Formats: sequence, structure tokens, C-alpha cells
Amino acid sequence: MAKPVSDSHSNREAVQATNDDASASKLSCVKKGYMKDDYVHCVVRRPVRRSPIINRGYFARWAALRKLLNQFLDTEKMGVKRDEGRAPHLYVELDFKEVTSKKTTLIETCNHLRDKISATASISQECVLIYLDPDSSRAIVGWTSKAFSTAIFFLYEQIHPDDAFGQQMIRNLEAKEKLFLDQGWQRAVAWDMLKVYSNFVEAQERRRIERLELFDEFEEWYMMQEHYCVAYAINDAMGLFEDFGFPNNQQKQQQQMQNVPNPSSTSSSSY
Ligand SMILES: C[S@@+](CC[C@H](N)C(=O)[O-])C[C@H]1O[C@@H](n2cnc3c(N)ncnc32)[C@H](O)[C@@H]1O
Repeated sequence: MAKPVSDSHSNREAVQATNDDASASKLSCVKKGYMKDDYVHCVVRRPVRRSPIINRGYFARWAALRKLLNQFLDTEKMGVKRDEGRAPHLYVELDFKEVTSKKTTLIETCNHLRDKISATASISQECVLIYLDPDSSRAIVGWTSKAFSTAIFFLYEQIHPDDAFGQQMIRNLEAKEKLFLDQGWQRAVAWDMLKVYSNFVEAQERRRIERLELFDEFEEWYMMQEHYCVAYAINDAMGLFEDFGFPNNQQKQQQQMQNVPNPSSTSSSSY
């Protein structure tokens, strides 16, 4: 039965409000010194102080996506000179129109932010596809693959929190990669956040942030990080992204491109 309009309207608002929670968490990290962001305060109405484990989790996600984005922008062949503060030419963020148009207005009214837009294409989705039904997720991933022949799709998302560990976790990561490959992306790699944090986020940065707050929630931290992942999918019509991505994945990516079954298919999900 269809839900009453008022219900679905308030549901929509509640779901959109999770974006405000996420922004507030990012501001909490900035205030504690985990990361630098000169703009996030513009989108937070009510600043809050998050717990150390939440701050550390947001930091891990920010550090991983930032490093991948910088790799993308570093592609010298595209004529993009490294500049820490720059954003890609085409940056597609998936969300409700109400949410993205607020961000667009902010960018347009803030010269500082507008001047950061430069060259190239990236698609980013952080904790959004998880809210959609599988058909809609596939449609978005398929459409972006067709629309952008030289692009990277960044994804940060939960991997089924109720699933057991071990094989199921690995299958979940493989399912993320499969989602992209089935929808026409040339290569796709998914790592859980524990592996991302230990093997991709800079050791120096980890040491720095691990001293910022008292932290004794190690068990919860490991569990939480194993239930989130970073995945990226690559369309590389111009051969620009051969060296892009997590370390030691070249062989695996090559296999995926050639559609060869990977004998060590757990390599992106075990460590
Ligand atoms: C946890 S927030 C993440 C916000 C932001 N991407 C971030 O990571 O900081 C989840 C986001 O999913 C969006 N969302 C949920 N369902 C959606 C749908 N059906 N269509 C578009 N966006 C949706 C919400 O509006 C919300 O901004």
C-alpha cells in the first residue's frame, strides 16, 4: 500500500537530514584537528561534538577519498598540475535535488569555493546508494558508465552490517566490484575500511590523529571499519588511469579488465 504523502514527505526529510548529521560530524573532526576544511562550517547550522570513534571513522573516510581524489587530479597526462585545493572539472555528487542544490547554491555564492573548480571528471557517492533499491543503484551506475568514458566513480558505503564475518564479508566486497563491472565500468576495486585505514591512509597521518583524543574502543573500531568500504570504478578510454588506486591492485585490475577469473579473489578483502 502506498504511504500517505505526509508520511513519505517526512521520511524524505528525515533521510535528507542524515546529510546534516554527516556534515556536523565532519565539522566535529575539523574542530578536533583531525582534518582541515575551510568550508564545512558553512553548511552546519548546529555544531556538535562527536565521540572519538566517530571522529576517527570520518577521518579515515576523508583521508582515503582525498588521497584517491588527489591521485586522480595528479594525472599529469591530463595536463592537470597538482594543486591540493582543486576540484575536478566535472564533479557529480549523487543525492536528492534538495540536498545537492543547497550545496550548489553555496558554491555559486562563495567565490572562494567556485574558483576551486578546474579540470576533469569524477563521480562521488558517500553513503547514498545504500538507501536506494538495487534497480535504482544499478541504473545510476550503468548510466554514469555510459555517460563518462574517462572517469572515476568513488564510493564509500556500508557493507551489510548484519552479515557474519569471513567469507560473507569478502562476498560483499566482490558484490560491490561486480555492481560496477556488470554495468559496464572497465575496472572496479573494493576494500574494507580496516584495510584502507591500515594500508592506504598515510602512516604519518594515522600516527598524528591517533594522538588527538583518548581512545579505548578498539573492538568497536575494528568492527565498524570492517563494515564499511571504499570502492572505485574506472572508465579509462584514454589510458590515463593505469597507476590509479590502492597499492598492489594492478594485477587484479588487469584480470578484471580481461575478465579472467581471479585465483586470489580475496586479495582485495583479506589482509
Ligand atoms: C548519510 S547521508 C550522506 C551524505 C553525504 N553524501 C556524506 O557522505 O556526507 C545519506 C544521504 O543519502 C541521501 N539519499 C537517501 N536516499 C536517497 C534517494 N532515494 N535519492 C537520493 N539521495 C538519497 C540523503 O539525502 C543523504 O544526504
